[in-house]
Amino acid sequence: MSKLWSGRFTEETAKSVEDFTESISFDYLLWRYDIRGSIAHAGMLKEQGIVTEEEASEIIVGLNEIKNEIESKEFEFDPALEDIHMNIEAALIEKTDSGKKLHTARSRNDQVALDIRLYLIAATDIVIPRLITFQKTLIKVAQTHIDTIMPGYTHLQRAQPVTLAHHLLAYVEMFERDKERYTDALKRIDTLPLGACALAGTTLKIDRKYVAKELGFSRISDNSIDAVSDRDFVIEFISNSSILMMHMSRMAEELVLWSTKEFSFIEISDAYTTGSSIMPQKKNPDVAELIRGKTGRVYGALVSILTTMKALPLAYNRDMQEDKEPLFDVFKTIAHILYVINEMFKHIKFNKERMRKTAAEGFSLATDLAEYLVTKGMPFREAHEVTGNIVKYCVDKSMDLHELTIEEFKAFSDLIDNDIYSRLTVEASVKGRKSYGGTGEVEEQLIRIREKVDKDWTEE
Ligand code: ARG
Repeated sequence: MSKLWSGRFTEETAKSVEDFTESISFDYLLWRYDIRGSIAHAGMLKEQGIVTEEEASEIIVGLNEIKNEIESKEFEFDPALEDIHMNIEAALIEKTDSGKKLHTARSRNDQVALDIRLYLIAATDIVIPRLITFQKTLIKVAQTHIDTIMPGYTHLQRAQPVTLAHHLLAYVEMFERDKERYTDALKRIDTLPLGACALAGTTLKIDRKYVAKELGFSRISDNSIDAVSDRDFVIEFISNSSILMMHMSRMAEELVLWSTKEFSFIEISDAYTTGSSIMPQKKNPDVAELIRGKTGRVYGALVSILTTMKALPLAYNRDMQEDKEPLFDVFKTIAHILYVINEMFKHIKFNKERMRKTAAEGFSLATDLAEYLVTKGMPFREAHEVTGNIVKYCVDKSMDLHELTIEEFKAFSDLIDNDIYSRLTVEASVKGRKSYGGTGEVEEQLIRIREKVDKDWTEE
């Protein structure tokens, strides 16, 4: 098929150039948005008297036919036609001569910007509900573990006892902010670029507001050069996805660690683990590992698009065709991850006894002892020092804090009385940390986060 832009050319495009410059092999994914945009554009051309009613209707009928052909996989994408925009336009012209009028007051530069924006709106519409579903799963699991005590870590060293619910809800909070970031980015995605044309606008009398309304955009771009030049909205989506993946990778890492013999905090059900081809005893947390691993490709996409856009002169440059593959890959990756981690999480067994036992080990109640001394009037720095001395004494004698006699305690400080023993349990430690956001008020946190995630939360 001859190229839609062949007018000023006397030679055929080299095959190697066709192969190198085509994008149809990946941007075919935009077909739905491209057709939607074209139908709205044709409607506007008709409203403005730029095409006749009959021409518009032929164009729209043709576009709908193409839509059906693509849906039923009858449509043949042709790399010689470069990209999705020209594949659809050429097919339309095959169907009707009126198709030759569709590209009036439009350029592929504003067209592609439109298609990606529509793609991102649809993508966000999938990501946010999946995030909510996963948050709800985490909340439900947390609700059954309000009394499950586990070691809280800093530096991956046992620090202070916390509840499993508290730990899981920390992730729900992170995902809540991730959701906010996607929602916030929508404000900027939601701008119609169509009508910017190649870069400078058009001499024809178009009605951009009409197209915006047809396509559901709440704003139109104010500067036509900006409209075709920037991809910051793609960068934002990938950046938000990178932050989401950073959170995911931390959770995945913990699931990997927790399922080791060394931790033995969880068991992931067989359906969500895989075996080893050589070691018969192995049950590997591959899903979690791959989530951790796929964080790399999402970060890679971010660096890729940032680098593509860096130092590009205004307005459109063909470099920008490189925005699509990273974007599509990121969306596919996070959508899949959100689905599979949600499924897997419902099939994790938490080993409460083991968590409780390890929470009590390793002098995790030392801070409780120091805070006890503070309530008896000792300045915290001194209390820290005294407690440190007691810990050292215990280490030397291979004892735990609660095993000291009251005389031994008193040798370190007279302020310590018999009431210390009731404080030196993990239960007392957890229950006592009632400061806002602390592990002792996790039930209140549950109420707050449920309200944030879903105002109409109801227990099923
Ligand atoms: N396939 C191109 C892209 O993805 C569409 C825009 C092409 N514009 C142009 N003037 N060659 O960026």
